[in-house]
Amino acid sequence: MEEGEYRLMADVEDRHWWYDAVRRLLRRLLSEELSGSESKPRILDAGCGTGATGGWLDERGHVIALDSSAMALKLYGENHPEATLLEGSVESIALPDASVDLVVCVTVLYHANVTNPSTAIAEFVRVLRPGGLLCLVEPGMKGMRRGHDEVTHGARRFSLNELRELVSAGGLEVEKATGAFSFLVPLAWVRSKLPLANKTSDLSNNASGLFGLLGALARVETRFVARRSIPFGLSVLVLGRKPH
Ligand SMILES: C[S@@+](CC[C@H](N)C(=O)[O-])C[C@H]1O[C@@H](n2cnc3c(N)ncnc32)[C@H](O)[C@@H]1O
Repeated sequence: MEEGEYRLMADVEDRHWWYDAVRRLLRRLLSEELSGSESKPRILDAGCGTGATGGWLDERGHVIALDSSAMALKLYGENHPEATLLEGSVESIALPDASVDLVVCVTVLYHANVTNPSTAIAEFVRVLRPGGLLCLVEPGMKGMRRGHDEVTHGARRFSLNELRELVSAGGLEVEKATGAFSFLVPLAWVRSKLPLANKTSDLSNNASGLFGLLGALARVETRFVARRSIPFGLSVLVLGRKPH
């Protein structure tokens, strides 16, 4: 990613509506997982960036924050000092087999620095203990590449089926596969029609999310997604469990 994008992520993580919405979605979908055991879970925030979506997990467990960017890790450490920082690739993780209870990976496999998403999934499966959970969130709607994908060096977007298949081909049992941020699809469709030369990050504007409207829609959708699944969304989310 471009260096300025890391600083932007760290600057806006507390006040940008999208980050707030993703954290709410994760809190909701992972609440049972995080409250189930007596001891604190070991959590891998894979491709952690500056901690905008996963930094809160340090309230709930021991977080290992993994990223290939030293700058992202420096900013992560400043904002979330409890985490253990680990520089490296999601495609070759310097952790022992079966050493974590939960892997959270938010908007990483789409990145041009990930050569093969299946390799990363195989690594997540290797480091998960039997019975552990993988939570993946990636950009959805394959045809909707826009300026934001350029700034963040996005190489691919995923259909919901594709992400589900990747997880199940890696040997995990898919417990949930759903779209998220479905209400953003029309807006993103319009933006995807603008020339890609129009390279702007989604983070550089509209932090309030149309004065709170997008955050309110996300809260309604999150309540729905906690119980049911949506077949499409600007993001796609899959939960996969490693068999015992
Ligand atoms: C869009 S950011 C998402 C950061 C964080 N997960 C979040 O949701 O805020 C993508 C992150 O993936 C990291 N990344 C890209 N390729 C990677 C790789 N092969 N291994 C580890 N991290 C990678 C980038 O450095 C960046 O921090």
